[in-house]
Amino acid sequence: MAPFVWLLFLLLSSATACDRCVHQSKATFVKSVAALTSGACGYGSFAISLNGGNLAGSGSPLYKNGAGCGACFQIRCKDPKLCTSTGANVTLTDRNYDNRTDFVLGFFALLDMAHDGMARDIYKLGIVDIEYKRIPCVYEGQNLAVRVEESSQRPYYLQIKLLYQGGQTEIVAIDVAQVGSSIWTSMSRNYGAVWDTNRIPNGALTFRFLVTSGHDGKWIWATKNVLPDEWKAGEIYDTGVQITDIAQESCYPCDYGTW
Ligand SMILES: *[C@@H]1O[C@H](CO)[C@@H](O)[C@H](O)[C@H]1NC(C)=O
Ligand SMILES: *[C@@H]1O[C@H](CO)[C@@H](O)[C@H](O)[C@H]1NC(C)=O
Repeated sequence: MAPFVWLLFLLLSSATACDRCVHQSKATFVKSVAALTSGACGYGSFAISLNGGNLAGSGSPLYKNGAGCGACFQIRCKDPKLCTSTGANVTLTDRNYDNRTDFVLGFFALLDMAHDGMARDIYKLGIVDIEYKRIPCVYEGQNLAVRVEESSQRPYYLQIKLLYQGGQTEIVAIDVAQVGSSIWTSMSRNYGAVWDTNRIPNGALTFRFLVTSGHDGKWIWATKNVLPDEWKAGEIYDTGVQITDIAQESCYPCDYGTW
């Protein structure tokens, strides 16, 4: 093999399973926070509490038809004159339809990313080169919760939204069952972080959530009766669990927290 081909082969075959990879991309900005909270994930005003209101919208590779909602990323721009080396930690709350960038960032994220007084200069550039990595979402002392959405109607229709989704992974399936029963009914993703079913088991309800842990799927069972018999629309119910799993990516070299 020619040396170049050999080197390429070495690089490709050494792409390893990593907790974090650093990706090169581009980002643009919106001034209004509302633009991202009212977004495709459906978090509404709750989004303001995510990462201090550092919100982002993203296109299909990261939005993943809604599975990416609630994911957390650390993003920094690549011009050290304008941006800090730590950048901003953001939560994905919206879909980005602009195919020129992977991220649309809200104003708070821009402020976090910029050196003092530089935010305006970055904003004026329109699109900037960035690098980003997936980071775990951490909600101190806060379990994964489900909010029963207003369009729910007992006993015919149940629509829930996922709140405080920790870890560095996605919820890709949700099942619901009567407490104590082993008959699980799968829910469907309605959009973003919102799931529903019109086949609701009787009685008090519990849930299990499928996430990627490492490279494999893993069910996480709620540790308690999540919804009481007489669940109510508009209420938020605790699942008793925190998700801390990490879905691995492949890249070389891995990032070990140093960028
Ligand atoms: C952003 O996330 C990184 C990685 O999890 C963490 O080390 C850092 O402290 C976070 N920064 C802020 C301001 O929370
Ligand atoms: C981005 O979207 C526009 C309009 O839909 C399309 O014309 C263009 O080819 C797309 N560019 C890329 C890189 O996909």
